[in-house]
Amino acid sequence: MTNWLKHQKLLLDLVAQNGTPVYVYDQSIVETQIGKLKQAFKKLPYDIHYAMKANENPAILKIIKEQQLSVDAVSINEIKNALKVGFRPDQIIYTPSCPDTQDLKFAFDNHIHTHIGATEYFDFILKNYPEKKIGLRINPGNSIGGNQKIATGHVNSKFGIPITQIDIIKTYIALGLKIDSLHLHTGSDVKNWQDLARSVDAIFDFARHFDTLKYIDLGSGFKVKYHQDDVEIDLKSYAEYIQQKIAGFPQPIKIKFEPGKYLVSKAGVLLVKVNVVKQGFDKKFIGVNSGFHHLIRPMYYDAYHDIINLSHPDPATEKYDIVGVLCEEDTFAHDRLLAPTKKNDTLMIKNGGAYAYSMSSEYNLRDKPKEFLIHQNTIQDITL
Ligand SMILES: Cc1ncc(COP(=O)(O)O)c(C=O)c1O
Repeated sequence: MTNWLKHQKLLLDLVAQNGTPVYVYDQSIVETQIGKLKQAFKKLPYDIHYAMKANENPAILKIIKEQQLSVDAVSINEIKNALKVGFRPDQIIYTPSCPDTQDLKFAFDNHIHTHIGATEYFDFILKNYPEKKIGLRINPGNSIGGNQKIATGHVNSKFGIPITQIDIIKTYIALGLKIDSLHLHTGSDVKNWQDLARSVDAIFDFARHFDTLKYIDLGSGFKVKYHQDDVEIDLKSYAEYIQQKIAGFPQPIKIKFEPGKYLVSKAGVLLVKVNVVKQGFDKKFIGVNSGFHHLIRPMYYDAYHDIINLSHPDPATEKYDIVGVLCEEDTFAHDRLLAPTKKNDTLMIKNGGAYAYSMSSEYNLRDKPKEFLIHQNTIQDITL
């Protein structure tokens, strides 16, 4: 697991000056993760498009850009954000879910390559943009992902065009629809590369129906460690598998990946303050000055996030439920072992770099936390 405790003094000084809650990101961890991906995929003809929904802070996007990565956007505001940071239109791909045709119009007019996830958009495209080359997001009917809520390629999922609709696609190609790429993203937090490989098989088989493809986008789903006993996905074996598929494919083909979590999840933490340690009937609660409005993953996905008492990182000997401040069932962790904790201690909630700030809200009229970036032992306020 990433050693955030080496930043203990820096973080406690930050908290003393700025208060809590705050998100803190470490640039060097983002760079390390990018390096690991580049190493794993080095034998493939690949592009990496960072899924900016994971963390759209412009300072994070700048790191991504400096490392020569591109981006994947899912909304018009994400596209605008990426353009503002300096990504060229050809470095942005757009993979919306059930967009309004006005959104497609914006993307097409701004030369953003778009992955279309429903055949029902084809009439609009043929009528208004008959020359536009599009990508298709397909649904291979492969149920994978760390949690049902992040399984996006099963037969009951709203995402993508079911591969069974190939005849409809062919009809539109005959009418003039221009398709130059295929895309899928079957789920997040996938720990076994063999599960992703089933989607790879499906899309490479499907790709044989097309003779004009520039790339196949395999999405992401790369699991990172949340718990110390978790395993990270074996990307080297996954890359070798893809390499074989490319070798057996009748045309030269490029691969795209769209990692979010893998690049930024462990590069961030959420620092919160203990408001109260309270005795319940049978258990002790630690009530902190944050909640699911700042990190929704435990409540929404039942996700495990490691939590450390940053003020006193002593051996974890006491059991607590760590709960939030919202007037809702709002729990970060049940029956979690932690160092003996008291009011005003700072807790560090790990894996706060992905889907934390970007999924946050101002529910109960509570402010969003500030964001900070550590770079070469200095810490900078990067709040928008
Ligand atoms: C289309 C698409 N691509 C990429 C991602 C990134 O997935 P992950 O954060 O698991 O890498 C997602 C996540 O929801 C997605 O929907």
